[in-house]
Amino acid sequence: MNKKITIGSDHAGYRLKLQIIDHLQKKGFEVIDVGTDSDASCDYPVFAHKVCKNIQDGVTELGILICGTGIGMSMAANKHRGIRAAACSDTFSARLTRQHNNANVLCFGERVVGYGLACDLVDNFVETEFEEGKHARRVNLITEIEREECNR
Ligand code: RB5
Repeated sequence: MNKKITIGSDHAGYRLKLQIIDHLQKKGFEVIDVGTDSDASCDYPVFAHKVCKNIQDGVTELGILICGTGIGMSMAANKHRGIRAAACSDTFSARLTRQHNNANVLCFGERVVGYGLACDLVDNFVETEFEEGKHARRVNLITEIEREECNR
């Protein structure tokens, strides 16, 4: 497991982000926090972009994005080439999106999940590897769609 991760949030996910950073650091992770740095109102796509750039640039393999619901962050993140972001609020999905979708960004919402569940989502996500095999074929098909759409 690569013990380096990029994390970002907007104002609505700021407090939970601080708790998740602490959780990850206690597990031995080096955490790169790209903001936001307070609970002052801000725009979630800005921070989705910062996290995704770090993954595209190879700074970290995985990222975490927290907003009010996790949905806006996942929408913004999935506009980036090579990014597979999953908004999850149950641990089964957080695990399976690594195993089957090779998701590289986990999104969730501070207004949806509490601290304990958020930690479990993160643990399931970071501790699970992609299963490859038939799932690689399907993920490659997603990449093909992405390539075609980017050239339209
Ligand atoms: C901010 O109020 C909220 O809209 C944002 O955090 C997020 O939930 C959007 O999807």
